[in-house]
Amino acid sequence: MTIRSYKDIQPRFGKNCYVDESAVWVGDIHCGDDVSVWPLVAARGDVNIIRIGNRTNIQDGSVIHVTRKSTSTPDGYPTIIGDDVTIGHKCMLHGCTLGNRILVGMGAIIMDGAIVEDDVFVGAGCLVPPNKRLESGYLYVGSPAKQARPLKDSERAFLKQSADNYVTLKQDYIE
Ligand SMILES: CC(C)(COP(=O)(O)OP(=O)(O)OC[C@H]1O[C@@H](n2cnc3c(N)ncnc32)[C@H](O)[C@@H]1OP(=O)(O)O)[C@@H](O)C(=O)NCCC(=O)NCCS
Repeated sequence: MTIRSYKDIQPRFGKNCYVDESAVWVGDIHCGDDVSVWPLVAARGDVNIIRIGNRTNIQDGSVIHVTRKSTSTPDGYPTIIGDDVTIGHKCMLHGCTLGNRILVGMGAIIMDGAIVEDDVFVGAGCLVPPNKRLESGYLYVGSPAKQARPLKDSERAFLKQSADNYVTLKQDYIE
């Protein structure tokens, strides 16, 4: 079964979401409207929570998890993702916070406590270390992530366009 409860907590969805039947979505996960979840995505909201905004897409093979509360980190590390975010293929999001209109390139890894501000492009294969903050309006690449350059206007526009494309695509799948 794709959508499963953990300790009686079931994932929740807004309107018109699409979850591929091969994805696994467990526990305390809330999604906004028009979210799409593509084949083989695994998201596990068990030892902390996962929250996802509107029109965000999570592409094939990506993994989302969280870190439990402890004496050193009383809130632990939930994973929070904003609106109009594109998570490319085979990304790893662990205990991190992402704002709005972000593209996370294929194979990127974002670790506990990292914060990605609004309007950021994370290059393919990028590793964002624990507690690193990526500043709004920039492209980051590399392992560890380094600020490469300010985003071009076309790239800023593409952040929203990419999310819109996936809203349209998932609607085809729903229909
Ligand atoms: C980073 C990216 C945006 C290209 O940016 P760009 O400024 O146009 O980069 P260019 O192609 O002009 O390359 C500039 C340099 O960066 C390097 N480079 C390109 N992409 C890189 C990446 N992801 N990580 C590290 N270096 C990268 C190039 O090799 C080149 O290096 P050089 O100057 O030593 O030859 C693009 O390669 C990328 O990673 N896009 C993500 C796409 C994606 O995953 N989409 C989601 C799928 S749905």
